[in-house]
Amino acid sequence: MTSKAGPPPPAAPVIPSEETEKNDKLPASGEIIPTKHHKYEAIKLLGKGGFGAVFLVKREDGESFAMKCESYDVKKQVLSMDCKVLRGTFLIQSPHFCSVLDRGKAIDRFRFLIMKLVGKNLWDLRIEREPPKFSLNTSLKAAEQCLMAIQDLHTVGFLHRDIKPGNFAVGRPETNEFHTVFMLDFGLCRKFIGETQTKDLRMPRTSAPFRGTTRYASLAALKQIEQSRKDDIEAWLYMVAEWTVGALPWRRLKGQDKEEVLRWKEDIRTGDAHDEFMTGLPRREFDTIMSYVDSLEYHSIPDYDHVHYLLQHACKVILYL
Ligand SMILES: Nc1ncnc2c1ncn2[C@@H]1O[C@H](COP(=O)(O)OP(=O)(O)OP(=O)(O)O)[C@@H](O)[C@H]1O
Ligand SMILES: [Mg+2]
Repeated sequence: MTSKAGPPPPAAPVIPSEETEKNDKLPASGEIIPTKHHKYEAIKLLGKGGFGAVFLVKREDGESFAMKCESYDVKKQVLSMDCKVLRGTFLIQSPHFCSVLDRGKAIDRFRFLIMKLVGKNLWDLRIEREPPKFSLNTSLKAAEQCLMAIQDLHTVGFLHRDIKPGNFAVGRPETNEFHTVFMLDFGLCRKFIGETQTKDLRMPRTSAPFRGTTRYASLAALKQIEQSRKDDIEAWLYMVAEWTVGALPWRRLKGQDKEEVLRWKEDIRTGDAHDEFMTGLPRREFDTIMSYVDSLEYHSIPDYDHVHYLLQHACKVILYL
């Protein structure tokens, strides 16, 4: 994600540092990158993350796209997961995911995929505001769209496991998609449905290495318990609270402060921090959403419509304020 002035961006997924630094093989601005069918010119860097970088590129016919690259040096390849997930969401025609148009590799340097270009991510959009928060109406509308994206991702059998504002973006006004939110970045996804015909849930591992971003990670993720659909929704709740209020109570803690963030998250449920967390949120509805999410278990299928209904209720209430 691009770095900007203002509050520090949430920590990137926890991965070994040598993987994050080896980006020297990635394309330079102006470089022409060919595939079997097309040529793309790298125009500018849109975002740089743990596993590679995303560039704005122009095809030979002048059309713009996003190119997600993954350096050959990374130990854990994740671009293929992006492809797998986006193939699934394409099949169900979800409006919340980018279409993949092309892919290829620059031998010994990087692999890439070419996808639909969208607009700014929701982290950048928020922090360029003064104060750095969305209006309640915008917050709740964005929350609804992100929830629908999460539901669609779950429908195709994947958990995201890194729900955070930098992994959602609005569409471009030029394509009339400014009011559609797109989900990005499937590098930490995990298939939660088994490979058999019965579509059973995979058995949870007794312990699961931490995946995600500490600030938004669910209680289970922080405790290294296998994540399930409820955990994406819990992370969504923290993300929505942050962009509605402007900050989370644990905003000053870093990616490595998992124990302390876990204590905060427990404290907003049962302790003194409850009020601090809820101030500025539509309290009745968010209290209900949090209790509902906490009532879910590994095997639960979340009732997305119930959460959606509560958001819509909160939207109606603000109309009368
Ligand atoms: N299709 C796209 N169109 C426009 N911008 C995009 C697109 N895909 C990604 N970006 C931008 O690039 C940033 C990084 O993308 P993404 O999250 O997929 O990569 P990443 O390497 O996994 O990043 P990180 O490790 O920071 O999560 C996004 O936050 C977004 O701003
Ligand atoms: Mg990302």
